[in-house]
Amino acid sequence: MESPYTTTITDEAVKRGISVEVIDPDTPIYKLVYKGKQIRCCRSLTDRVGAITFQLAQDKHLANSFLKKHGFSVPAQELFQSYQKAEIFLKRFKNIVVKPCTQWGARGVSVKINNQVDLRAAVRSAAKFEGNIILEEYVSGEDNRLIFVDYRFVSAVRRFPASVTGNGKDSLRKLIRKKNSMTKKLDPVNVVPFDRETLRTISAKGFSYESVPKKGCKIEVRMNSNYHTGGIVEVVTDRVRKDLVDTAKKIVRQIELPVCGVDFLVNKRTGKYWVVELAPDLAISPRGGRIVAKHFIDYLFPETIKKFEK
Ligand SMILES: Nc1ncnc2c1ncn2[C@@H]1O[C@H](COP(=O)(O)OP(=O)(O)O)[C@@H](O)[C@H]1O
Ligand SMILES: [Mg+2]
Repeated sequence: MESPYTTTITDEAVKRGISVEVIDPDTPIYKLVYKGKQIRCCRSLTDRVGAITFQLAQDKHLANSFLKKHGFSVPAQELFQSYQKAEIFLKRFKNIVVKPCTQWGARGVSVKINNQVDLRAAVRSAAKFEGNIILEEYVSGEDNRLIFVDYRFVSAVRRFPASVTGNGKDSLRKLIRKKNSMTKKLDPVNVVPFDRETLRTISAKGFSYESVPKKGCKIEVRMNSNYHTGGIVEVVTDRVRKDLVDTAKKIVRQIELPVCGVDFLVNKRTGKYWVVELAPDLAISPRGGRIVAKHFIDYLFPETIKKFEK
């Protein structure tokens, strides 16, 4: 219950006189109660979303097929069946992403896999989280999440992979540690892990943890842009491309998910974009979360809007 993904919502609820009853503090499942009306929630998930709709969005393979079927642009994808078939997929696309079907925060995700040895390690890493593993065409683009509440566009964030900037003295290991100790103070989850993905990312650029980057040299140390692996989040609601908003609006309507994050990778050079994820749980926080929480409570308890504005 202490995570900002929940407290951003519950703080807004409490401000309006809505009470919060904890059902399970660890999951965390809780109930919002106002004048006899009750809604069960888990972070920004609610009982307002049907079980099948949730599954359709949450499962990255189902979401990819659903979006493709309705004409939206998605990366090519297939379920992992065997290394033999995976190698054919790799050969076809040259660079691929391997990920578990239903995880979050880049858990078990390996980006830009381009050889058979890494492919095997990536599948093993994804398999630690679940049995269903996806192979996906790697697409190059900036990560934009468009957030919808009650089918309305309310916010957009751009997410960038974790990076450090050299000072000509410190090793890459030390620079990452320094960065982590700073961001950890603000949010313990926003750190770069010293895992295979980070090592693979810096190795591909010709570095090791012992390398000393030149002063002013900025190095991206991850290929994924998740906040949970030290990524940076920027609120871009007023700057996001209009056609992305229109497309995302159609998507949330098509899938019938009133509260949803639509994640696009957008290639800045060509303008082309792909939807890589639908997030039925918004992870409201840490940037721009308050405004989203406000819309979220407006949606669940419209009867409290007036009271709140007084
Ligand atoms: N097909 C892809 N091409 C390029 N990068 C990708 C692709 N899929 C995922 N990524 C990168 O990996 C990150 C995590 O993948 P994602 O599918 O969003 O899983 P999660 O639910 O763990 O966030 C994305 O935010 C993006 O930076
Ligand atoms: Mg994601």
